[in-house]
Amino acid sequence: MTARIIDGAALAARIRSEIAQRAATLTAQGIRPGLAVVLVGDDPASAVYVRNKVKDCEEAGIRSVLDRLPAQTSEQALLTRIDELNRDPSIHGILVQLPLPGHLDERLVIESIAPEKDVDGFHVSNAGALMTGSPRFRPCTPYGVMKMLEAAGVKLAGAEAVVVGRSNIVGKPQAMLLLQESATVTICHSRTRDLTEHTRRADVLIAAVGKAQMITGDMIKPGAVVIDVGMNRIPAGPNAGKLCGDVDFESASKVAGAITPVPGGVGPMTRAMLLVNTMEAAERVAGVR
Ligand code: GUN
Repeated sequence: MTARIIDGAALAARIRSEIAQRAATLTAQGIRPGLAVVLVGDDPASAVYVRNKVKDCEEAGIRSVLDRLPAQTSEQALLTRIDELNRDPSIHGILVQLPLPGHLDERLVIESIAPEKDVDGFHVSNAGALMTGSPRFRPCTPYGVMKMLEAAGVKLAGAEAVVVGRSNIVGKPQAMLLLQESATVTICHSRTRDLTEHTRRADVLIAAVGKAQMITGDMIKPGAVVIDVGMNRIPAGPNAGKLCGDVDFESASKVAGAITPVPGGVGPMTRAMLLVNTMEAAERVAGVR
């Protein structure tokens, strides 16, 4: 079997153009959607992510404010800045790029963001809302994955869904969103005893471990839908340094029924869903949602 490719880049482009229309409508009503992106330090990967987020906003007609703070910024200074953004009525969404430098308490910083502006959906009250079945902001990556599954026509009710990875950013919220759609959900992680035993049962397999090409074809049920959240570099060999996912595409695409590529799969969807969340935040303030 050769798997069908789920094209995240194309779906993301459609979503961005819908958002551009909604942003134009709201702006015409006197409310220009606004996103603040806070980057502390100079991690090169984070700098690229943040630049892309700002560029996406520009293209969609969403105003963006980029705050680049030095690596040695104190916790108090960061909290003060977030407080200003919380109070700024022209800002509807606030995103603090993670990871933060080691001296900053990530949890404390996230909890200082006003929940109604937490477009990442990482605040404990948004995580709780998701868990209890009335989500306010769905974290962008798992939200994007759900949109891809929907667009690909994947039936989730009663399906065996296996999520590999238990992070607060992807694995846990992904599991909640799948559960919300009545899938039977298993979360696997680094201490799972026999990973393959679980992954081979999956009708829908979500790989979010952060390990280059660790999910191979022999771990996949024939015909399964495989979503690759990973964003890694091939560590060695002829393709060393090349971008790759958590799934070994070569072997997996021979077994799966449908699969997302890296790049061009989940990545562009994560970026698009940030625009969706920012738009929703602004529309709520405007009273149109
Ligand atoms: N770092 C890696 N992914 C994310 C994300 O989705 N949001 C934020 N704020 N930081 C990240």
